[in-house]
Amino acid sequence: EQIEKGGYDHFMLKEIYEQPSVIKDTYRGRLHANEGLIKMAGIEDNLQKFLNADRILIIACGTSWHAGLVAEYIFEEFARIPVEVEYASEFRYRNPIIRPTDVVIAISQSGETADTLAAIKLAKQHGAFVFGVCNVVGSSISRETDAGAYTHAGPEIGVASTKAFTTQITVLTLIALRLAQAKGTMNNSDFHRYLQELEIIPEKVAEALMTNDAAQAIAAIYKDAPNCLYLGRGYNFPVALEGALKLKEISYIHAEGYPAAEMKHGPIALIDEQMPVVIIAQKQEHYDKIVSNIQEIKSRSGKIIAVVTKGDVQVRDLADHVIEVPDTSDALSPLLTTIPLQLLSYHIAVMRGCNVDQPRNLAKSVTVE
Ligand code: G6P
Repeated sequence: EQIEKGGYDHFMLKEIYEQPSVIKDTYRGRLHANEGLIKMAGIEDNLQKFLNADRILIIACGTSWHAGLVAEYIFEEFARIPVEVEYASEFRYRNPIIRPTDVVIAISQSGETADTLAAIKLAKQHGAFVFGVCNVVGSSISRETDAGAYTHAGPEIGVASTKAFTTQITVLTLIALRLAQAKGTMNNSDFHRYLQELEIIPEKVAEALMTNDAAQAIAAIYKDAPNCLYLGRGYNFPVALEGALKLKEISYIHAEGYPAAEMKHGPIALIDEQMPVVIIAQKQEHYDKIVSNIQEIKSRSGKIIAVVTKGDVQVRDLADHVIEVPDTSDALSPLLTTIPLQLLSYHIAVMRGCNVDQPRNLAKSVTVE
């Protein structure tokens, strides 16, 4: 097992550090930035189905559901197709409206999650076209779906998902870009810019991994906190949810993720000098709104841990701690902002003596209800 961990203390840490290379593995052969092309057989073979779709339904569980939420923002922005993201467990039991003109995207690392599999079967019975985004080759979901695209994350051993999440976002971004190109919903220069940015994302993920020491130092300060709030807006709202999930899964600290502006409708009541608030404050659209959210937290004495864009000064002045990630387009930023949140959870869990790779009560793949 020590050999399999490749010199890392835990599989989770190894998998966090694999992200630059597995993101590259996931777009290799698909992304051709110089030619301005995206080639994915599963999409090309079914392009008309996607182009004719009235809407896209995304079904998933856990971290894969969070990747689906990021994809909702990206698909709607890039390809202007309405998207709904559903928990497979809710979808399958609520007599959902599924039309033959719907395209369903099922996201699953393992390809074995029982609820997701059942939701796929239901969608197929109603005549929808079902596309799978799985990591495990030959898994039940990859076999049950009409077509699909694999993530190439390699085996994920840590129960808390890390590299599966970022590779799922990579695949979904490629699909959204291809559909945007085919539908003409994105201008050519933006399309080319996104391809080029995606191509250099692995280097930026590697740079984001250099926040490890900062994450470890912050972890030492907040490891005994009973609660933690995660906030983000837009593309980084799902990242806040995922950051909170990572922390509760492996450190057993109660954590909640919220859209930053929703804070006023509840979580703000929790904020006092004991409350660490992790806020994703990238220099992007609505930056001023995030800055005012930070001011609201500060005026209530909350402890602010901000994930900022490299070079940011405004948030640095307000926050108790900042972690810098490289600049990129808003839509690609989840691939970078996720990294320090994974590291923060990891270090807190290690410092609390938790079993990082196999947290209590959790299973890597939930194959029974
Ligand atoms: C379990 C795992 C999570 C995972 C979820 C969905 O809860 O512990 O890490 O996100 O299942 O799994 P899937 O394999 O369908 O992505």
